[in-house]
Amino acid sequence: MSNVILQVLERDLPELPPQVAEIIEELRDPNLIDRPVLIRKINECGNLGAAVLRVVNSVGQRRGRRARSLEDAILLVGLEATRHIILGILLQALFPQRQLLENFDRRSFFRHCLGTGLAAQLLCQEAGLSGRFDTYKLVNYGLIHDIGILALDRCLPVTLNRIFQIATEENIPILQAEGKVLGRHTHSAIGQWVCTKWHLPPDIRNVVQYHHAPRRAQVNKQEIIIMHIADTISFNYYESLRESVHKYEIEADLVESLGLSMAQILKVEEALPQRVERALEILEPIAQDAPCIF
Ligand SMILES: [Fe+2]
Ligand SMILES: [Fe+2]
Repeated sequence: MSNVILQVLERDLPELPPQVAEIIEELRDPNLIDRPVLIRKINECGNLGAAVLRVVNSVGQRRGRRARSLEDAILLVGLEATRHIILGILLQALFPQRQLLENFDRRSFFRHCLGTGLAAQLLCQEAGLSGRFDTYKLVNYGLIHDIGILALDRCLPVTLNRIFQIATEENIPILQAEGKVLGRHTHSAIGQWVCTKWHLPPDIRNVVQYHHAPRRAQVNKQEIIIMHIADTISFNYYESLRESVHKYEIEADLVESLGLSMAQILKVEEALPQRVERALEILEPIAQDAPCIF
């Protein structure tokens, strides 16, 4: 990575507060989670527990069941889902929700991230894989896959602004503009650096590192292909939000590897905007009430 970018990130990306680092460490391996220890640590971490309950109950409302404690939440949605809800809330809370930059639209970017998770869910439904991939996990992966962009927003906002300015002025896709500004030090490479610095769990690091290069993934390859295609579908939706005509291509062999057809991809593309709007109605009020970590 460019020395300048790395130096700024090293200087400006804060260390995780010890309480947060301990919770993330507890969530590192889903098979090794000690429930009483996890619950105690969450209850000691500001309003994190309340935020987890809000997410669980916002979705659980539809099922007519309500969690009153973290123990209830785990019983209601399961330990793996709870793990991803906690990680999703914590990692979002590490980055500012504000919109300061002229060319980087934080709200549209959130739509892209949420859209990536929801597109992944729709792809799994189409492929008959819903039973294998938890919805909360896919949404969390969507929310965090572009953590490199969030790190740029936090530490190098002028650089990020320049990427979006060039994309608009030269009427080129955002990823092409990123290449012009960052060279080979893409947001995936920056995201990978953030995952290492903060000791984020390996499954999250894998998604961050390979969502633009799924063929290079060594583990959980099917999961990475799902996230890659979902990211592309959602990126095209994101480009359409800024009235761009650019469309990223989806590779047919990757689609086939999931047992899907291009007609099914089109179906997901058509369903996505409405799904995102519905999910925003639930998530935006929760995001405004997110725990304050730094
Ligand atoms: Fe990305
Ligand atoms: Fe993305």
